[in-house]
Amino acid sequence: MNLSDIKQQFTDKLLGIEDEQSLNNLEIEFLGRKGKLTEVLRSLSSLSLVEKKRMGTESNELKEFMEGEIKNQKSKIKIKEYEKIAETEKIDINSNLQLTTYNLQPVSGHLHPLSNFIFKIERIFEELGYEVVEGYDIETDYYNFEAVRIPEDHPSRDEHDTFYIKDLNNPDKKDLLLRTQTTAMQVRYMEKHQPPIKIIVPGKAFRRDDDATHSPMFHQFEGLVVGEGITLGNLKNTLSVAMKKLLGEDAKIRFRTGYFPFVEPGLEVDVTCTICGGKGCNVCKNTGWVELLGAGMVHPEVLKISGIDPEKYSGFAFGTGIERLAMMKHKIPNIKMLYENDIRFLEQF
Ligand code: PHE
Repeated sequence: MNLSDIKQQFTDKLLGIEDEQSLNNLEIEFLGRKGKLTEVLRSLSSLSLVEKKRMGTESNELKEFMEGEIKNQKSKIKIKEYEKIAETEKIDINSNLQLTTYNLQPVSGHLHPLSNFIFKIERIFEELGYEVVEGYDIETDYYNFEAVRIPEDHPSRDEHDTFYIKDLNNPDKKDLLLRTQTTAMQVRYMEKHQPPIKIIVPGKAFRRDDDATHSPMFHQFEGLVVGEGITLGNLKNTLSVAMKKLLGEDAKIRFRTGYFPFVEPGLEVDVTCTICGGKGCNVCKNTGWVELLGAGMVHPEVLKISGIDPEKYSGFAFGTGIERLAMMKHKIPNIKMLYENDIRFLEQF
């Protein structure tokens, strides 16, 4: 068999091969120790020197050609194998939704219970015709204390109770502070608006208190209504309607006298304990009532200092801590739970 026959035979056989094993066999058949090419090379000894040289070169070329072809074919077979694996193992994201989206399910959250409560309060009072107004977390001593008749020697003005902010240009003057009550917004608003006034002021307040029911930062809302002929009866009716909407139809309110320098008369407002429905429990200390709000008729001096004529107008104001309301409504034992952002707690609302 001559070299060109061998080449022809090799090429024909190679064409039909599609697996690695047959390719290895083909390699042995042509290039192995007893292979077809080796046989030809062995028979060279009978040839002349010139012939030997020519055949030597040609058979080397054929050897290289066959080795190259086998290598090519091998890599083609490998590629095909990989393609097959890729085909069987590929994940179809449409038909295998479970597998590909398992960890990607969007978790839908909701507003923080306190935010929800604030929005609810705002909505209730908006329905009653109130405007929502926001004040400032940083206030002046004047609006927070002075203008609402809290005297200089009042314990709440003490550094033990109030966070003062140092004015670097005026380090000895205690003028700026973190507001201790949303009441600070009363005079600010009345200075700029004449009656009729009907506002609700939700926002943060700050006091140096820190225990299970107090946090140095907490939320309050303030209500202020000023107009002609506003009475205590209007205050009672307003709070009665609002507390029913907020805490449930069974909620009732009752007034007791209380003292706040900026109202006259001043009132403490108790609301039916929502935990026991008024029957008596440890939250309401068996009275069936919980003290929830401060309220009263706006002091004539406060109207006057704001530029509103107390002879012509009267008004009422009320205010309370929002956390307290939320804790009461949802039976939350510790105020800190509202700030820790433990998802297991928040998910329950
Ligand atoms: N500002 C008072 C407080 O923080 C509450 C209050 C508001 C009382 C309005 C009377 C009228 O305790």
